[in-house]
Amino acid sequence: MQKQYVQAVKHENDRQIIWEFGTRCCYRGDNENLMKMHPLGSGVNTRNQFIGQKEKSLSGKRIGIFGKGGSGKSTVTVLLAEVLNNSGYKICILDADSTNIGLNNALGIEDPPTPMMEYFGGMIFSGGLVTCPVDDPTPLSGSKIYLDELPEKYYAQNRSGITLLTAGKIGKEGPGAGCDGPISKIARDLKIHDQGGPLLTLIDFKAGFEAVVIVDPTYAAVEMAVNMRDTIEQIKKGNRPATQHLEDASLVAVAHQIFEEARIKGALIVLNKISKKDVERYLQARLDERGIQPIGIIHDYSAITFSWLNGMRLTITEAHDEILHIVKELEAAESTYVQPKTK
Ligand SMILES: Nc1ncnc2c1ncn2[C@@H]1O[C@H](COP(=O)(O)OP(=O)(O)O)[C@@H](O)[C@H]1O
Ligand SMILES: [Mg+2]
Repeated sequence: MQKQYVQAVKHENDRQIIWEFGTRCCYRGDNENLMKMHPLGSGVNTRNQFIGQKEKSLSGKRIGIFGKGGSGKSTVTVLLAEVLNNSGYKICILDADSTNIGLNNALGIEDPPTPMMEYFGGMIFSGGLVTCPVDDPTPLSGSKIYLDELPEKYYAQNRSGITLLTAGKIGKEGPGAGCDGPISKIARDLKIHDQGGPLLTLIDFKAGFEAVVIVDPTYAAVEMAVNMRDTIEQIKKGNRPATQHLEDASLVAVAHQIFEEARIKGALIVLNKISKKDVERYLQARLDERGIQPIGIIHDYSAITFSWLNGMRLTITEAHDEILHIVKELEAAESTYVQPKTK
């Protein structure tokens, strides 16, 4: 079918499309210069892949989203992905929480993709490649993935072009795949590329510690944030993180990996599900006492609750400005970060 060049006709993801041509499009406000460009010009490659993407500070990075169960990791992952996608990043979400159900629905994707655990042939016990990172610190072989070479069943894309991959689900891939270690091995090592280079990958972990920690208004969430901040401080000082006390294998694995790669930037704290001003003040005060300054806050929105309740795609409308603020903080944190010399 002949592709049609359409000008300023519709809205997608609550944003007005200035023009679109096949898979290419330009949203109002994304980049004013692009609004003037002809779609067949060299400025745009594919939907949301704008000129200047290479210079964007988060391009191709991997960001782990951590926090206690139910704090809002999946919610924040999806909302961040949508806003980052609208800002011109090419986004991939890697679902590394074996207990997640409905992340695909929250993205507006009907069926979840087949887990990458299957792609790697399962755990080593069942003849596959995946080991447990605690026993085996070596990287997973073949973990650099090019989407155009990956069989389609292993990834899905939503309407705005966000790619979803799943690391593994409990018990699906035979012996040894019933614990989170092998799943975190995949999450730790998988590097997802397309022809333009590595994608900005948001990793929705069950537990762990890097980059963005979601804190809901609970004592447990505050303690987890403090714990992560302290572990990161130790790493920055050059101490190998103490992991004996950690029960979760994925937490240990991620701690060691980040230490090895010396890429630690610090735990960035995001408050979520804040319903009332007094709760917000109280939580801020508790974090302040422990020397933690959150980079952003997402309020409790009934539209988000209802989307999860009905298995529907999350809308970014209400939380948009709060998420955009968090994106800007992430970009600022990344661009002020000096990459240490590799050993
Ligand atoms: N900002 C929010 N506003 C309202 N409800 C939220 C918000 N964030 C999360 N929730 C609710 O909390 C539940 C758990 O969120 P989820 O993202 O699945 O947590 P996690 O992935 O950390 O287990 C969701 O089902 C949703 O109803
Ligand atoms: Mg989740």
